Amino acid sequence: MNRSATFSRSVTLFRAFLHEQDDPEGFYSVLAADTVAQLSRWADLDGATVLDVGGGAGYFADAFRGAGATYVGLEPDAGEMTARGEPEPGTLRASGEELPIRTGVLDVCFSSNVLEHVRRPWTMADEMVRVTKPGGIVYLSFPPWFGPWGGHETSPWHYLGGYRARRRFVRKNGFEPKNRYGETLFAPSAGAALRWARTCRDADLVAALPRYHPWWAAWVLRVPGLREFVSWNVVLVLRKKG
Ligand SMILES: C[S@@+](CC[C@H](N)C(=O)[O-])C[C@H]1O[C@@H](n2cnc3c(N)ncnc32)[C@H](O)[C@@H]1O
Repeated sequence: MNRSATFSRSVTLFRAFLHEQDDPEGFYSVLAADTVAQLSRWADLDGATVLDVGGGAGYFADAFRGAGATYVGLEPDAGEMTARGEPEPGTLRASGEELPIRTGVLDVCFSSNVLEHVRRPWTMADEMVRVTKPGGIVYLSFPPWFGPWGGHETSPWHYLGGYRARRRFVRKNGFEPKNRYGETLFAPSAGAALRWARTCRDADLVAALPRYHPWWAAWVLRVPGLREFVSWNVVLVLRKKG
């Protein structure tokens, strides 16, 4: 049991989330530093090549480079990629469902908060395993649909159904939400993620945890049903067989 995930670390993350909209740089610097520290439990990042699938504008790039890694972003959406100006050098424009990368070449394949935006999430997860080297690490995190943030800006109305929540948002605001249920937002569950990871032929599941919770609350992910509502964000860490 790793006890570096303290309650005060969860409070720091929660405070940063409150400023995601008005101070994205500040929010992402806290989140990226925390995520890189978390991932370092399983992967030696110094000298590693890391692919950030759905990396958007590359908010995690500096934290990975700071840990000594070579960072490569991958993002299908040109608007997301350039949201902070010029994209990170070497960023690939492609979908995680079909990675334009040879099999078994990466030390770390990383993805944060992307699976819920992908129509075929487990195809993307399989692709991430494929491109990772034997012994390399796959890190996948996403907010489960029935969590408080499952519906993104349509939350908490997603509990009444994704399409209904989307229609309500349009009625109230006069425009579509950025994350449109059925188009750019889907409903992956923690249970489905764990089933995928446990049956993955080419990689072993080495950790499954609620990303932002303190260590002593990690048990919530072991309880079917409850985990969908209270884990907020699920992290799966797999090691490629080889
Ligand atoms: C909520 S943002 C997350 C960005 C960043 N990874 C983070 O943690 O902040 C979701 C990202 O997933 C990207 N995305 C959507 N569909 C994708 C796909 N099929 N393959 C890879 N990325 C995708 C979006 O364009 C967007 O940049």
